[in-house]
Amino acid sequence: MIDHKIIEEIKFRSNIEDVISSYVTLKRAGSNMNGLCPFHSEKTPSFTVFTSSQNFYCFGCGAGGDVITFIMRAENLEYPDAVEFLAKRAGIEIPRDNEPVSRGPSRSRIIDMNRDAARFFHAQLYSENGKTGLDYLRNNRQLSDSVIKHFGLGYAPDSFGALTDHLRGKGYTEEELLSGFMCGKSKKNGRLYDYFRGRVMFPIIDVAGNVIAFGGRVMDDSTPKYLNSSDTPAFKKSRNLFALNYAKNNATEHIILCEGYMDVIALHAAGFSSAVATLGTAITSEQARIISKYTRKVIISYDSDGAGQRAADKAIKLLTEAGCDVKVLKMNGAKDPDEYIKKFGAAKFKDLLSGSRGRFDFKIDSVLASHDITLPDEKIKASEELCKIAAEAFSEAEREVYIGRIAEVLSLSRESIRADVRRQVSRRTRERKKDETRNAYLSGTGYGDRVNPDFIKNVHAARAEETVLGLLLCFEEHRKFLADGGLELTEDNFVTEFGKRVFSALVEGTDSTGAFDLSVYGDRFNVDEMGRITKMSVSRQQLTVNDRTVLLDAVKVLKNESAVNTSTDEVTYDDLMTLINKKKNDK
Ligand code: UTP
Ligand code: MN
Repeated sequence: MIDHKIIEEIKFRSNIEDVISSYVTLKRAGSNMNGLCPFHSEKTPSFTVFTSSQNFYCFGCGAGGDVITFIMRAENLEYPDAVEFLAKRAGIEIPRDNEPVSRGPSRSRIIDMNRDAARFFHAQLYSENGKTGLDYLRNNRQLSDSVIKHFGLGYAPDSFGALTDHLRGKGYTEEELLSGFMCGKSKKNGRLYDYFRGRVMFPIIDVAGNVIAFGGRVMDDSTPKYLNSSDTPAFKKSRNLFALNYAKNNATEHIILCEGYMDVIALHAAGFSSAVATLGTAITSEQARIISKYTRKVIISYDSDGAGQRAADKAIKLLTEAGCDVKVLKMNGAKDPDEYIKKFGAAKFKDLLSGSRGRFDFKIDSVLASHDITLPDEKIKASEELCKIAAEAFSEAEREVYIGRIAEVLSLSRESIRADVRRQVSRRTRERKKDETRNAYLSGTGYGDRVNPDFIKNVHAARAEETVLGLLLCFEEHRKFLADGGLELTEDNFVTEFGKRVFSALVEGTDSTGAFDLSVYGDRFNVDEMGRITKMSVSRQQLTVNDRTVLLDAVKVLKNESAVNTSTDEVTYDDLMTLINKKKNDK
């Protein structure tokens, strides 16, 4: 546990606007600041930084909290590590005298262990044990020793305990080995066994130069072909990209996004040092946003097969939403970039890069490939699909260009295409409105509330509970009134488990003057819960009437409700939809 005085000092010296400004472009809006949320894709800013309370809240995705919560989310850190991150930034030393309570291995221990493992794998590759591995990389994959060194490639010996023994010898504990995905533990005899055996190893390095995880490839046809580290305290698959540590310095022109480790390595070796790859999964919106931090232009260079092209579809969408200009490579005669370069050479690949298609041309190609437009029915279908895509254009000018292209490739008149696109645009608008209404209704009733699943069991009381908590979180005079015993309110008066927890932490964290800081919640609520707590507070902050009568009224509701038994029946989705439809018909 870090002393609360020190946390306050760190927060005092970590102005939330300054900290967030290095992640988000903030613009002043009245007394607050806003910008595009870094935690979900959006085109209009709903991410707000509240200068006076030093909190943030996104009205779009519900992320919220204080500066520590922000760093937890943005840097993917646990609470104590986020505190340490800010301390470092503010130049504050956290006293280390009292032993840390055990809360699992720390990120920095795992990173140290990974570096030791990477050194071990690399040394193995060049030892007698690693002959098959080195042979495979040099001969089968045609990698030079300088490329092998550049990427720190290695070899995991075909043995159950080589790595485990080595790391144990370096002082890493069983718990650290397990949580860092170095080994598993046998259910039968409790013994540890290396996960990576008989594989060539690809260390995954983050932009700060830390080894955060590994991928390992077999050298024959056995499965899985690649084994990748699961998420660990140092690694989140969905937030990292292979070779971004190098690509980030070569991204001024563009970043090349590939599917595989070997594609990236082959590209870097051939001089295309802005290539990156996701880590055995489809691209996530987080990865898209990370890429957009380093470049505005992305060239997708996925496998030429159907799966690769479908994956490209998703990547186009996410990267475009993240604000990137996206092009897609058209590769013939090879299944992936690695193979292409081996077959045709780097110069030909360079031609491919400059001839890569824009988002829309890529779609045209894939629609034309799946419909035989000499048949009338197929031609109509193709036209429909393309008009739908044109309807998603961001501007009128862009839409006009698309309309022209569709008319051209299908030999139809611009006028008819334009009319169809217009129909699609209004259909989209209608559907969006419908979705918004439905979502607003569902969230208003608390349906599907993951943070506070009890909410829906007694919506009336749960709303009163949020009012009470929101007011207490926001206003010192109410907290002082509570501390003086004026409310006669206890945890038992709260109807949801979540409400009880928030209330008791609030009581604990408030001193006799009513002073309170959100950071007391940081180490006992997760980031989603922090968002909800912040929401309760900011939604009260925005109302004009927040006086004691509002508080007393809500407290009265709570006391009445806690006096009667609350129903524990689950409301099903079907019940809810019946209710919504009934309401609609009533109108
Ligand atoms: P591919 O099967 O296309 O392999 O998987 P590749 O990159 O061409 O690999 P080589 O050339 O056969 O060595 C693409 C990526 O998908 C992930 C890996 O990240 C791989 O680089 N993958 C694939 C896995 O994570 N596990 C697997 O079993 C297979
Ligand atoms: Mn390949």
